[in-house]
Amino acid sequence: MFKKISIILTLISILKTAQCYSCDSNTCKPPSCTCASQLPPGGISPKDAPQFVILSYDDAINDTTFTILKDMYKGLAHSNGCPVVATHFVQNRYTNYHQVQQLYAQGDEIALHTFEHTALASQHEIDSGRTVLSTFSGVPLNDIKGFRAPFLNYTNELIQSVQNMGLMYDSSAPTIRQDSSWPYTLDYGFSDDVDCNTTNTCGKITAHNGLWEIPLYSFFFNDASKPPVSMDPEYDNGNLMTLLKDNFNFRYNGNRQPLAIAVHAVHCNEPEAKVKVFRDFIKWCIGQKDVYFVTYSQLIEYMKNPVKASELSGHPAISCSKFNTYKVKDTTEICDGIDNTGDGNIDEGLVESCGIGNSYFSTCFGCPTTEPSIDNPTPARAGDRKTIPQQGCTEGTWDPITSSCVSTNGSTYLESITPEKIVTEENTGNNISGTNSGSISTTIPISFLNLSIITVLVNIIFYFI
Ligand SMILES: *[C@@H]1O[C@H](CO)[C@@H](O)[C@H](O)[C@H]1NC(C)=O
Ligand SMILES: *[C@@H]1O[C@H](CO)[C@@H](O)[C@H](O)[C@H]1NC(C)=O
Ligand SMILES: *[C@@H]1O[C@H](CO)[C@@H](O)[C@H](O)[C@H]1NC(C)=O
Ligand SMILES: *[C@@H]1O[C@H](CO)[C@@H](O)[C@H](O)[C@H]1NC(C)=O
Ligand SMILES: *[C@@H]1O[C@H](CO)[C@@H](O)[C@H](O)[C@H]1NC(C)=O
Ligand SMILES: *[C@@H]1O[C@H](CO)[C@@H](O)[C@H](O)[C@H]1NC(C)=O
Repeated sequence: MFKKISIILTLISILKTAQCYSCDSNTCKPPSCTCASQLPPGGISPKDAPQFVILSYDDAINDTTFTILKDMYKGLAHSNGCPVVATHFVQNRYTNYHQVQQLYAQGDEIALHTFEHTALASQHEIDSGRTVLSTFSGVPLNDIKGFRAPFLNYTNELIQSVQNMGLMYDSSAPTIRQDSSWPYTLDYGFSDDVDCNTTNTCGKITAHNGLWEIPLYSFFFNDASKPPVSMDPEYDNGNLMTLLKDNFNFRYNGNRQPLAIAVHAVHCNEPEAKVKVFRDFIKWCIGQKDVYFVTYSQLIEYMKNPVKASELSGHPAISCSKFNTYKVKDTTEICDGIDNTGDGNIDEGLVESCGIGNSYFSTCFGCPTTEPSIDNPTPARAGDRKTIPQQGCTEGTWDPITSSCVSTNGSTYLESITPEKIVTEENTGNNISGTNSGSISTTIPISFLNLSIITVLVNIIFYFI
């Protein structure tokens, strides 16, 4: 009986997906085009695929959020020595650019979230936000690759702006199914977009060839009455840990779609104990075989060139070789977001504090003489610090004072953070997914198949069982 229900639900899920999305994998082929699929890319069987976890933060980076970020994942490293990294969807308003520079220097990815956190922002606003972010935080333009829509409100026009700007990916669409798609390109529009009715985008997203969508993977509850949550799962008296582990296990024992922890740092300490739950969960994850925290664009590197977990060593998706170019310079500090001298201070004596109009931030690149804005993203800057070249440095670190890439000397970033030791523990798993094999499991809350037509369909089919 349960098997039958499971099969029926699988059929329904296929029908339902087909309503909104269809993609022919004979014509849509990697690396330029990838169809949405519940199965790992490259024909890799789920048990051989790596389990990626993507950690992301939205909104401003400033004194309120910076400490919370550190408390959640800084100093944690995988068994290959590479640190746990995150992706930040940064709004310009209230952001302290020197803190952005520090996150980037530690291997995190910096992406866009509009200048003012505007719903359905213009391309002009998104573009200005990118310019200001790159100018004052020293993140090379070419390394700003992604976008998430404020309020997750996306329209075809917005997605078109993202593509016009030459970005690599969008990540604005929450998933409707727990057994959701791996990342895919938008050549055939969205799959899995739970919000297409609420955002009024159903059937209105045209082809955006080659633009990647990294679905905003939601968390699903065992309790069918609770709707899935795409961002900021609640502490819930400590039940948060169970929710996180259940959803991890569903994927790890299932089709190994990436697990997303998508949060706003400002909500991560509500209550204070929540930060520790997240940190403990991250430690639990990296203690398990074939689990990697990667940035969003590293995940796309994997999608373009998928390999089995056992062959992943040296793959750009999990590489942190970038850090080997960041050496501590023995006696001099460089304004690069790194503690070059190893004295525990970052960029001391070099970073400047700016306050102009409603903007207060620190930067290595000279204070603006008028407030940077959507209409004036490149105001004159005091002094003669030089912005980082569009393509960044191939080796070493950018020195805005000498206006050059400098190869420095000494111990590496990883030595300077002394990663916290992770105790590997066996994943005993729990039974949220059973031996999931790609079909929708009966433990998925039925409420997500809540379309009346499906209810009718189920009733008709049950009539024949
Ligand atoms: C940091 O940014 C948030 C918005 O993301 C804002 O509410 C908060 O006031 C800011 N804190 C500081 C110190 O600027
Ligand atoms: C959106 O609403 C229309 C009309 O009510 C419905 O036919 C369609 O199935 C809905 N799509 C999704 C994905 O909910
Ligand atoms: C998001 O989009 C919907 C549909 O277009 C609209 O009704 C809603 O007001 C938007 N939300 C915001 C915050 O703009
Ligand atoms: C680089 O470091 C090595 C070993 O610590 C030292 O012998 C060498 O002189 C340093 N070179 C420079 C240019 O500082
Ligand atoms: C999972 O299910 C099996 C068989 O039903 C049971 O023996 C096992 O204890 C369950 N594991 C957990 C963690 O609930
Ligand atoms: C399911 O349908 C009921 C009745 O139509 C509605 O009240 C409820 O909000 C729906 N749940 C979801 C998750 O859409």
